Amino acid sequence: MDEKSKIQAEKHLTGTLVLSVFTAVLGFFQYGYSLGVINAPQKVIEAHYSRVLGIAPLERHATNASGEDSTVPSTQPWAGTKGTLAPVADTSEDLTTSSHILTMYWSLSVSMFAIGGMISSFTVGWIGDRLGRVKAMLVVNVLSIAGNLLMGLAKFGPSHLLIITGRAVTGLYCGLSSGLVPMYVSEVSPTALRGALGTLHQLAIVTGILISQVLGLDFLLGNDELWPLLLSLSGVAALLQFFLLLLCPESPRYLYIKLGKVEEAKKNLKRLRGNCDPMKEIAEMEKEKQEAASEKKVSIRQLFTSSKYKQAVIVALMVQISQQFSGINAVIAVSSNIPWQDAIFNYSCPVSTCLIERISEKERTLLQSQFAWMSYVSMVAIFLFVIFFEVGPGPIPWFIVAELFSQGPRPAAIAVAGFCNWACNFIVGMCFQYIADLCGPYVFVIFAALLLVFFLFAYFKVPETKGKSFEEIAAVFRRKKLMAKTMTELEDLRRSEEA
Ligand code: GLC
Repeated sequence: MDEKSKIQAEKHLTGTLVLSVFTAVLGFFQYGYSLGVINAPQKVIEAHYSRVLGIAPLERHATNASGEDSTVPSTQPWAGTKGTLAPVADTSEDLTTSSHILTMYWSLSVSMFAIGGMISSFTVGWIGDRLGRVKAMLVVNVLSIAGNLLMGLAKFGPSHLLIITGRAVTGLYCGLSSGLVPMYVSEVSPTALRGALGTLHQLAIVTGILISQVLGLDFLLGNDELWPLLLSLSGVAALLQFFLLLLCPESPRYLYIKLGKVEEAKKNLKRLRGNCDPMKEIAEMEKEKQEAASEKKVSIRQLFTSSKYKQAVIVALMVQISQQFSGINAVIAVSSNIPWQDAIFNYSCPVSTCLIERISEKERTLLQSQFAWMSYVSMVAIFLFVIFFEVGPGPIPWFIVAELFSQGPRPAAIAVAGFCNWACNFIVGMCFQYIADLCGPYVFVIFAALLLVFFLFAYFKVPETKGKSFEEIAAVFRRKKLMAKTMTELEDLRRSEEA
């Protein structure tokens, strides 16, 4: 076989490979769905909470940058809302207390998801190694099914508690899934397709967010009647994933390297690769196995204390921080509150200006005359931001960590990076609304400044991993370290000569 046909053969997609990757990324679909679903039905669920808790219904007002009450609801979907809760009836002390209680329950309903993810992401390596990748994904699906059931049955009990618990349990699932899925996908993919298949989980997450937002429209499921169904629908994906996993082969890498089951590994490799000769990959696994045997398992403490891993740890954490502090989830949240149909039909199409009924004449004229072009700019900016995010900082952090570390430190690194990602998700979610209340839309300038820093970091510090073995990547870090050391020494020398 010549070189070209060899590469073609390595890129061959078999039915089993497609099934395995599709099934695995259903885990990320659920992650996206759970992340986005809480946004749309906020008002109806809050109203339901107030009925269940026996407190006065509240109306959520948002204050704009100049402190005026605006008509756009202030929602912050994935980790709690602040906004200003104002009692509808009057402003007595009791009602203020009620509003705080309601805000607290709502914030918990939203943010418990990220807390669940934070906790469970720590255990990914352990569960994945103990049960195997497929069995681990199968078992953790039970969490998703349970969490979704709790939310689906929320109307039959203390809804607030059922939803908070349900969100926490699905969060636990998503935390585990966010580690196990990239692990499995990268292990079953041929090297030539690892990058391409490794981005599919991002596609799954975005699809999950999108579907949840669409289903959350009030004339579909985001209404008083159907919100429990809306919240619990990702249980369907969990069930589908559960049954499909029964058909998926265990990762040959796991079988060969962790369990030493050579024949089973070969068999699964054949299923995944079709007619391709498995010996080349087996040889790679053998090499990795020997490296793993010569390398002790590294604990989280050692990961942070040994200078050997310093550079890789910084890169692994920074990519997670950059992903979350890019403000993607804030942008998604805010954009889902933009009345797109108004923006498109009313502001950009002069013929339909007569359709604007919701805002006053004065506001309408002001908006149309002064800021009409801004709606175009905002829309284009949001689209560009999301598109660029989804092809770069979105998918890469989820799989690059496994590529930066060899077998010994990998489980610890994956746990720490996963935890860091979820923690940042939580922090941005909790703080965004407070900062937005302080500085209005300029909050996005903060994200822009941070992104510039992250861009410089990625440009200078993150090594190219494409087509490289772990040894080669480690060598890049060693070279960078050596270079930095030499530069410092040269600088010291120059200073001493000047002195
Ligand atoms: C990434 C992030 C996630 C975000 C998503 C948006 O996967 O980890 O928090 O919601 O991208 O597409």
